[in-house]
Amino acid sequence: MKRIFSGIQPTGEIHLGNYVGAIRNWVTLTDEYDCVFCVVDYHAITVEYEISEFRKRAIETALILLACGLSPEKCKIFVQSHVPEHTELAWIFNCVTPIGELERMTQFKDKSKQHRANINMGLMDYPVLQAADILIYKAGFVPVGEDQVQHIELSREVARKFNARFGNVFPEPQALLSMAPKILGVDGEAKMSKTLNNYIGLLEDEEVMWEKLRTAVTDVNRVRRSDPGNPEICNIYTIHRAFSDNRILLDVDKGCRTAGIGCIDCKKMLFKNMIAELGPIREKALSLMKDTDYVIDVIRAGAKKCSAIAKATMAETRSALGILA
Ligand code: TRP
Repeated sequence: MKRIFSGIQPTGEIHLGNYVGAIRNWVTLTDEYDCVFCVVDYHAITVEYEISEFRKRAIETALILLACGLSPEKCKIFVQSHVPEHTELAWIFNCVTPIGELERMTQFKDKSKQHRANINMGLMDYPVLQAADILIYKAGFVPVGEDQVQHIELSREVARKFNARFGNVFPEPQALLSMAPKILGVDGEAKMSKTLNNYIGLLEDEEVMWEKLRTAVTDVNRVRRSDPGNPEICNIYTIHRAFSDNRILLDVDKGCRTAGIGCIDCKKMLFKNMIAELGPIREKALSLMKDTDYVIDVIRAGAKKCSAIAKATMAETRSALGILA
């Protein structure tokens, strides 16, 4: 079975964008692939974070993955720092990665602008640790969003450079782009994100969810109820595509274009379908929150399985490097 690796940051609340763009897709992948899913806490410390909340965040992120339907019987779920070989391999990869490649990473450039007061080595090295995450499991496929493609390209280059110098140890991983439409925030402008505070949290109360949806920006050219709208440029329609079936999509499309329905009507239909899918996830999450010991057991067991693979890859890697056993 081909292996897949993907990572998710434990930074704060998981939102609709994460769910539709990534996690929901991960669940289906577990049927066909040997999947490894990682809560990447060492990546998260490259920027400022709330130390007192950090443990809780790691657990909560794993908890949400479980609530969304990832099953520990069908995939491995663990926390990055529990398998320290990731950082060990990252060091070795550092020695084959040209600095120039890291300097031109767009995420590095963006984050350097956002965190001017703390442009640290880890921020620049972030993609190298990501390459180690993937390659330590010799994963062939990496389900990610468009914004991570550049990092996967770098992973391929790292594998190539390593293999050229030390012999063939690592496969070149490929990005597996999700077909899911990209969801913007409630501002209808920027990608949904926790930092931009334009998100709808996956576990938010129904009332809060509805309030955010109700006031979310639609087609800005549709000012009055009687104006026809254009679903193609409406973020709400994009979200509809993630939750509603074709019949409803056609109705909404037609209703919007002819001003037959208003934006609130459209949002009500969407909300109903969203809740139908997210309600059970929320319930599962709430019940897991009462049993975090179970979640901790799951991630410990995940780390144990991953450790075995990671240790074997490290042994092979050290030997390729000519390091004293
Ligand atoms: N950089 C990824 C993100 O921000 C998270 C991540 C870390 C990752 N390591 C990974 C994703 C390895 C895929 C594979 O979304």
